[in-house]
Amino acid sequence: MQIVNTISESRDAVRAWRSAGQSIALVPTMGNLHAGHLKLVNEAKKKADRVVVSIFVNPTQFGIGEDFETYPRTEREDQEKLNDSGADLLFQPAVSEVYTQDAKTVVSVTGLSEWYCGASRPGHFNGVATVVCKLFNIVQPDVALFGLKDFQQLTVIRTMVRDLNIPVDIVGVETVREASGLAMSSRNGYLTSEEKTAAAKLYQSLCVARDAILAGQQSYEEIERKALLFLQEAGFQPDYFSICRTNDLKKADVDDVELVLLTAAKLGKTRLIDNLCFSR
Ligand code: PAF
Repeated sequence: MQIVNTISESRDAVRAWRSAGQSIALVPTMGNLHAGHLKLVNEAKKKADRVVVSIFVNPTQFGIGEDFETYPRTEREDQEKLNDSGADLLFQPAVSEVYTQDAKTVVSVTGLSEWYCGASRPGHFNGVATVVCKLFNIVQPDVALFGLKDFQQLTVIRTMVRDLNIPVDIVGVETVREASGLAMSSRNGYLTSEEKTAAAKLYQSLCVARDAILAGQQSYEEIERKALLFLQEAGFQPDYFSICRTNDLKKADVDDVELVLLTAAKLGKTRLIDNLCFSR
């Protein structure tokens, strides 16, 4: 696997593959790679001839007082995992390579970026959309893969690609879970072992709500209220629990068929998110 730190090196590598008629997949990450990321790389290998992985802890998607400084940076381990995974290129730029100091342009998917996680993390999705748009412009992949775990992020990115006519296919890849049901996340590393056991209740809350809907319960507000209570009793400080339409993340009503349950909650100091998609 080739490792590059500059935009021009990454463009050179991609250009050579392109002139040989090869297709390119991009897996954008912030590093501290776990089984969920490696699944993205695996799926990427099925979709294109060459796989580029980016590792960039993007400062613009972290708010004041969030964990940008302490976000786990595990460069050597990540490189070893990627080598074994069969990725072709690791693009690992410095902040100064990605952002010029007087940058004036922000990509903002309005509305969607202000709901749910966007309400608690103002500016977060603008940071995500801007950096992903930049990565698309740098690598110019045919396909890019993102985890379904960050469902709102995936919806923001799909909307941006549609609205800006960016020629890239966006693929959502199934969440990888621990045996307990806890969705894999780099932030799980912040949990104490006691918290890690309790954290599995986040997924349980989603399963209970899904089962209630599938059993025919029609008061979605009541289901959401019970889920928030369940999380509180399990020791979380819930942020939101929302029954939404899969396509645009607006609140679902009882006639909607394709649903996604979105939730975020704090356990101790750690903010966790999870979701569950299903058809009614
Ligand atoms: O999901 C992530 O790791 C990040 O939000 C992403 C998509 C790499 C953008 O920085």
